[in-house]
Amino acid sequence: MPENYTPGYSANAVNFMAQRTAVSHAAFFLPYLRPGMHILDCGCGPGTITLGLASAIAPGTVTAIDQAVSQIELAWDNAKKQEISNVNFITANIYTLLFAENTFDAVFTHAVFEHLQEPLQALRELWRVLKPGGIIGVRSPDWGGFLMTPTTPVLDRAMAYCKFLQEQNGGNPCIGRELCALLRQAGFINIKATATYECYEPLSLPAEYLALRIEASAEIEQAIEKGWVDGQASLLAMSESLREWSRHPDGFFAQTWCEVVGKKSV
Ligand SMILES: C[S@@+](CC[C@H](N)C(=O)[O-])C[C@H]1O[C@@H](n2cnc3c(N)ncnc32)[C@H](O)[C@@H]1O
Repeated sequence: MPENYTPGYSANAVNFMAQRTAVSHAAFFLPYLRPGMHILDCGCGPGTITLGLASAIAPGTVTAIDQAVSQIELAWDNAKKQEISNVNFITANIYTLLFAENTFDAVFTHAVFEHLQEPLQALRELWRVLKPGGIIGVRSPDWGGFLMTPTTPVLDRAMAYCKFLQEQNGGNPCIGRELCALLRQAGFINIKATATYECYEPLSLPAEYLALRIEASAEIEQAIEKGWVDGQASLLAMSESLREWSRHPDGFFAQTWCEVVGKKSV
């Protein structure tokens, strides 16, 4: 099975990520950061969280990697706009980092592990580049725990179809609950887990993001074979159900985020 990045890099998907900041999405990790640290952010996307991490560890530096050149370019643009200079954005794959072992004081990764086919292999690579005594922070959603109302059978099917698409791409939409076990298996100690909910405002943000994913789904052949859809019309019915829900006056969505911090033993 190939590993494909499910959200893709459309303007909608990238703007969705770019709403995030270190304060809003890395609050669980900020207490572990100290001025002067050298840290790694893996899968930085447009880099808006990275820039907040950079402010927290200045005069230290953040090295941030992403597999997509487009994201690295965008992250550099955002750093220039915010006049933040203690960052270095590099195109790289999380599985094969070109850093020596024991390089970083801390490693962070946000909303990446749910897209990986080999999360343990990625964690072992993060363990390798972390200094002894260094800290890791990983945050990913778990689709087993979100709250959504008011639902309809078509909307439930749309959400289940989004899960199916991510699984078809080699990802795991319910990886949040597995993070503790994965960190332990990768050799980390002192593992501490927390979880939080994120309520989206406006609801059109997650709705449009998921609706476009459904409409662009390349897996339609497998989806038809597996009985998910019977053609373009049923895809559109699912995407429209998300848009209708986002306009409902009582619409509510709370996303579950699982957060894990661990340490590499000295
Ligand atoms: C959902 S975005 C998250 C971006 C940012 N961390 C945030 O939370 O806003 C996931 C990012 O991980 C990157 N990514 C996915 N698989 C990767 C891999 N194997 N190596 C490096 N980056 C990867 C994608 O290109 C994408 O930019």
